[in-house]
Amino acid sequence: GASRPRLAFLGTGYLGATYAICFAELGYEVLGFDVDEAKIAKLGAGQVPFHEPGLDELLRTNLASGRLRFTTSYETVADFADVHFICVGTPQRADGMGADLAYVEASVTNLARHLKRRALIVGKSTVPVGTAEWVEQLVAKHADPELGVEVAWSPEFLQEGFAVEDVLRPNRIVVGVRSEWSNGMLYAAHKGVFDLAATEDREVPLVVTDFATAELVKVAANAFLATKISFINAMAEVCEVAGGDVTQLAKAIGYDPRIGNRFLQAGVGFGGGCLPKDIRAFQARAQELGAGEALRFLHEVDLINQRRRTRVLTLAAELLGRRAGPAGPDLSGTRIAVLGSAFKPNSDDVRDAPALAVATALSTAGADVHVYDPQGMENARIKQPTLTYETSMVEAVTGAELVCVLTEWAEFRNADPFALGDLVAGKRVIDGRNCLDPARWARAGWLYRGMGRPTPAL
Ligand code: UDX
Repeated sequence: GASRPRLAFLGTGYLGATYAICFAELGYEVLGFDVDEAKIAKLGAGQVPFHEPGLDELLRTNLASGRLRFTTSYETVADFADVHFICVGTPQRADGMGADLAYVEASVTNLARHLKRRALIVGKSTVPVGTAEWVEQLVAKHADPELGVEVAWSPEFLQEGFAVEDVLRPNRIVVGVRSEWSNGMLYAAHKGVFDLAATEDREVPLVVTDFATAELVKVAANAFLATKISFINAMAEVCEVAGGDVTQLAKAIGYDPRIGNRFLQAGVGFGGGCLPKDIRAFQARAQELGAGEALRFLHEVDLINQRRRTRVLTLAAELLGRRAGPAGPDLSGTRIAVLGSAFKPNSDDVRDAPALAVATALSTAGADVHVYDPQGMENARIKQPTLTYETSMVEAVTGAELVCVLTEWAEFRNADPFALGDLVAGKRVIDGRNCLDPARWARAGWLYRGMGRPTPAL
């Protein structure tokens, strides 16, 4: 019934698995579904197939409580839940622009065919605006019309590394609904979140809106965040030619509460499974709808982001005394340590990671590249098997003529430049995340280059 609806999450990748586990923790009866038998077997055995702080323990306690189960059967999931959240992947299409909705189509179609009672199907995956309406048509076509199955949309805003908190304590819940019934069902499906907030003397704002707005909220938020990062990286470019310090600039503008100090870290740019892909898909969709001009600036946001990667290559050539030809610098015969391969610290995710992209570009330019990352190594090795991977920071920097810090892990931020200086063949460092203290590294004898920061005197 609507007072305590049973919840299903279809697609137990990063998004669906995190939601399923956290909603069981909130007290709901939850079923996670995936077509991937190996993934379901792993989750059922208490293993999270990706790295997310706090999730392993929650998986185990909620499996033990019996509130959380997993299945690969559409029949089972259709029988079980009142509310079905669609959490399947929406990868970039082969042409690089739009999103591929094949998994959304397959999961909705198969679920709808198996439903034998009234249910609500809620889209969560990041999709082009207009998808909710299309899902509604799929449901109308494949579900028994007598049942009154409805569709709604509720975007997620998970940040890797903080996903458990983001589900249990979101800063807002957005729902796109068509009827009072689905609005009530979705409220009941989130009541655990509101109740938890009440016990902690907080409030979670709820935005109830139409399909298109609910879908747009997600991509608009990501477009804004990407723009904020590229804005400060553009300022870094200007600082580089004008001799300014972008870290101080960011601090100074960030004191204005209208601007805010977060997401203003200049560096080697944004990556990951969301921001780069979402801003491209958003542009493609706006173009299709005839509003391409409105999002033309996102193309520039993308270009600024790519230029930061090239900037590291240019700095590397400069520090190593190599000339850049028309095809880029020739770094053959040099040995470079790359610290970081994940797209951000506390993550093992290397999707569109600036660190791994730069490591690869350095290697393509002829350098002998030795990579170390506290967690991203396994995924990096799968994606770029030709690079050399080391098992520690010490091994990576030993014998290097240049050290590039490209993911701001605490281990790198806190590294001792005096001790590392004894291991390298040349004390040159590129701080691709502006996460090191330039004066300290200079005192230890290092030739330091940051991103949009002046070079300290040796
Ligand atoms: C992002 C959004 O934050 C989240 O709301 C959305 O649901 C999914 O996409 P995530 O991909 O986990 O989350 O990473 P995020 O912490 O946003 O960082 C994205 C990238 O931007 C990283 O590569 C990070 O290094 C970079 N970044 C972030 C900067 O370069 N500078 C900053 O100031 C902040």
